[in-house]
Formats: sequence, structure tokens, C-alpha cells
Amino acid sequence: MIPLMKNAFYNEKETKDALSKFILETPRLSMDQKCFEFEDKFARFQERKYAILFNSGGSANLALLQSLKNLRYLKNGDNVGFSALTWSTNVMPIIQLGLKPIPLDCELRTLNISSNTFEKRINSVELKVLFITNTLGFAGDLDKIREICGERKIILIEDNCESLGSELPTGKTGNFGLASTFSFYIAHHMSTIEGGMICTDDHELSQMLRIVRANGWDRNLQPDQQSLLRKNTILIVSLMQNTLFMT
Ligand SMILES: Cc1ncc(COP(=O)(O)O)c(C=O)c1O
Repeated sequence: MIPLMKNAFYNEKETKDALSKFILETPRLSMDQKCFEFEDKFARFQERKYAILFNSGGSANLALLQSLKNLRYLKNGDNVGFSALTWSTNVMPIIQLGLKPIPLDCELRTLNISSNTFEKRINSVELKVLFITNTLGFAGDLDKIREICGERKIILIEDNCESLGSELPTGKTGNFGLASTFSFYIAHHMSTIEGGMICTDDHELSQMLRIVRANGWDRNLQPDQQSLLRKNTILIVSLMQNTLFMT
């Protein structure tokens, strides 16, 4: 047996000392400067415009699908394809949010969906979203899968929780779709003890993800974004009131 994880720490003593110092000295333990620095650095590493930090990869998956629903990319009952070989927290949010999970076969050689297994499946079922998992550091032919998604108007999102740092000749895994999720749980490549991230280049989605992360509040948005959002909300509410008044 080869253990998946030998030690949770890299430079164990230095890391534990730094962590203890941080806990003793910081006025806030979460959602502060260090988190923002991490988001910035991670976005640069992954070569995406936005990185939004979450408390786990599972939460990141749930928040991503919830945000796609909030933005009307998805509605109740829509078909969401997922890799038959994946983690439970890739499938559960699909079910939890009232969407229909459609499993897609994986290739034995790569343990992942390929354009071949994908094409075969979408001939018999219509998908709104493909939530593909890049399993155990491997990936399918994501460039071809992205192409098919473009032709069929299927939104591609990647669960890259097991494949941080993997690269294909056509790019890093996690950069082929609208957004991708990552996990920093102790058993993964890089750990924040518990933690997750979502990367995207889409500004509107990045804002919605920050709102979903804050349980519906706009407090993690920039002040100019907050005032625009609040102005629009007041406009919508007053339009609704007018409509109600007139009917
Ligand atoms: C593919 C995949 N997605 C999501 C997750 C969930 O990540 P977390 O444990 O940070 O919730 C995992 C966890 O190992 C995973 O392997």
C-alpha cells in the first residue's frame, strides 16, 4: 500500500511556529489581509482573473452551482453532467440544489471523462452544465471537451480539487471552463488545514460568488460595486412595487 499522504506539513516546525505566532498576534482569524493576499497570489499562480476563497472544496462546489442558479444560468430540474469517478461533494450539491445529476463514463486509461465518452452521452441527453472532475492529478482531453461544450452551448466547469498544478499541453487544469474549484484540505497538494477556492475570469460570477460566500450579504464587494448593486436593487424593488400598485 502506498499512503496517499505521509505528512500534512512541509517544514513542520517552521510552519507550526508561524501558525502559532499568527494566532497569537492577529486581531482577526479569518477573512482578513492574509486571506486577500492568498486570493491574489492564487489567482496569479492559476493565471485567472479572480480567486475567491472558501472554507472547503465542498463548499466551493456548492457555492459555484448556487451562483450559476442565482445568475440564471441554471434552473431547477436542469441536467448537470458529472464524472462517474469523483468525490461525493461533487455530486451532492447538484442534488441539493434541485438539479438533475447525469453521470458520464470515464476512461480506464486516464480515469477521466474523454471527448469520446462525453460525445456518446450527450447524443442521448441534453446537458446545461458539465461539472467535470480532473481526477487524481489526471485529466481528459479538456481542450476537445471545451470545444464540444462550446458547440453545444454547455457550460463547462471544473472540479480541480484533486489536480492543483496539473498541466496539459493546452493549459493548466482548472482553466478550461467558466470556473474551477480547488480544495486545501490536509490530504491535498497544498493545505490551509481546511479550505477551498474558486477561480474564474468572469467578473459578474466572481461578484456573485463573494455574495454567496457571505450568505447573501454584499460586504465582500468593493464599495463602488456595492453602491451599484444597491442602486439596482432599489430600482428593481421600486419597479416591482409600481407593478404591484398598478395591478
Ligand atoms: C474531486 C473532489 N472534489 C471536492 C472535494 C472536497 O474538498 P474538501 O474536502 O475541501 O471539502 C474533494 C475532496 O477530497 C475532491 O477530491
